Amino acid sequence: MNTFRNEPLLELRRGTVRDEALAALSALDAKLPLDVPMLIGEDVVHGQVFASVDPSAPATVVANAHAATAQHVADAITAAERGQRTWSQRPASERAAALSRAAGILRSRRFELAALAVREAGKPWAEADGDVAEAIDFLEYYAQGALALDGGRPLIQMPGERNAMRYVARGITGVIAPWNFPLAIAAGMVSAALATGNAVILKPAEQAPACAKAVVDALHAGGVPLEALSFLPGGDEPGKALVADPRIHTIVFTGSCAAGLNILQTANTFVPGQRHIKKVIAEMGGKNAVIVDSDADLDDVVPGLLKSAFAFGGQKCSAASRALIHKAVADELAERLAGAISTLRVGPAADFATDVPPVIDIAAQQRIQGYIDSAKPLAQGDSRDDGFYVAPTLFQGLPTDHKVIQEEIFGPVLSLETVESVEHACELVDQSAFALTGGLFSRSPRTIEYVTERTPVGNLYVNREITGAMVGRQPFGGGRLSGTGPKAGGPDYLLQFVEARAVSENT
Ligand code: NAD
Ligand code: ALA
Repeated sequence: MNTFRNEPLLELRRGTVRDEALAALSALDAKLPLDVPMLIGEDVVHGQVFASVDPSAPATVVANAHAATAQHVADAITAAERGQRTWSQRPASERAAALSRAAGILRSRRFELAALAVREAGKPWAEADGDVAEAIDFLEYYAQGALALDGGRPLIQMPGERNAMRYVARGITGVIAPWNFPLAIAAGMVSAALATGNAVILKPAEQAPACAKAVVDALHAGGVPLEALSFLPGGDEPGKALVADPRIHTIVFTGSCAAGLNILQTANTFVPGQRHIKKVIAEMGGKNAVIVDSDADLDDVVPGLLKSAFAFGGQKCSAASRALIHKAVADELAERLAGAISTLRVGPAADFATDVPPVIDIAAQQRIQGYIDSAKPLAQGDSRDDGFYVAPTLFQGLPTDHKVIQEEIFGPVLSLETVESVEHACELVDQSAFALTGGLFSRSPRTIEYVTERTPVGNLYVNREITGAMVGRQPFGGGRLSGTGPKAGGPDYLLQFVEARAVSENT
């Protein structure tokens, strides 16, 4: 029986909860910088050090991580060959129990891990807490899902014939993670592979290695053998080596479209000696639009759009970056949004009042500023110069082929476009190469049905914000150039990590 329930979020408006959060932050600060070595099978390995810094105070080094080279990648895969043999032989119940124990460990370190995400990824408290809760959800959900998968699937039986189908682990899995959900996405991809009996090598994002290491530590402490889970901090160099190695069976990637396409290309290049076809599970970027119909309740639209576009500085693949507004309400909504943007609190992630934190690093700050400088904003919020801040920015009426309209910006930028009708809005959405999330504000059931039918996106949200998919409730992921569409946190996700074997016995 599936007993999965989402982990409740912390009640951060309560003083006692805030006190506990701040105490965890002080305790963390006293330990900085953290040391984040590589873990290669049984070995703790040191190498050339690189730093992750606090985006709200870039002089603060959060972690010194040890960068993996191509040789470290090869060593980790050799360790994983041993891990694959032993871990895949463990009963599914044992593997699931290890994941559940790891979830319990994350739960017991709730405040400490949220504090780490505040410091290392610049996530405001509510977002950081949501990241920890989602990591716990993924571990529990995939543990239960793997148990359900273990029995195989029922087949048609005939007299004199017994047919059975079961699922087995695909093989050594390379996980390549992004920084923006440094706990949850790493935990989700790693735990899905482990739950189904695959040995894993995790290559976290260089901006947030300490968060990913905390997930790995919890899994080891929960009972995942060291040789079944290695950890290789670093940039795209170890990532590329991992993808290219012929001993890797599956690559699970979440990140940008450019990196995803490069990974797909490399993985599809057959290496002499390779005895299998690599599978790539890729979750990539988005250019997400919210359609606002003439009958929408603007009192819902304004906070819904602000949250979708500007929470965590727009650094979510699910974030809204286009609002396609019916001409009947376009002027009023633009005026209200332009007024509202100045009320957003831009500040450090650790400040409970912050709406828009700094972006992750100076490269992101400069890249986003380049988009902002390419056109005249309708309105802008505050900015600061003591971190990687970017002013939340609203554009209006840019030509459809403008790069601000076409490209993923991954920052606090929202463009307003006036449309003739919902049909017109759907045509614009359909012209995009991305198809990740989308939104609709409308009171008409017929319009809701029409947009549901017409929209190509993987996740459509109606009359609400378009971020914050919950494990088990909103299976997440898109199509087109947004990804291969496996739907993380959904009932089919684990099927990506197994091969089906059928046996037919003449009785
Ligand atoms: P990124 O593509 O720069 O990096 C992601 C990871 O891939 C990092 O670990 C990086 O080191 C590694 N990498 C980069 N190039 C590589 C290559 N050629 N080969 C192997 N590894 C490589 O992305 P990011 O800046 O960490 O994250 C932001 C991006 O991720 C955005 O585009 C966002 O939309 C996307 N994202 C998508 C989802 C989703 O579920 N669809 C979720 C979160 C983030
Ligand atoms: N799963 C994350 C969200 O829905 C990206 O916002």
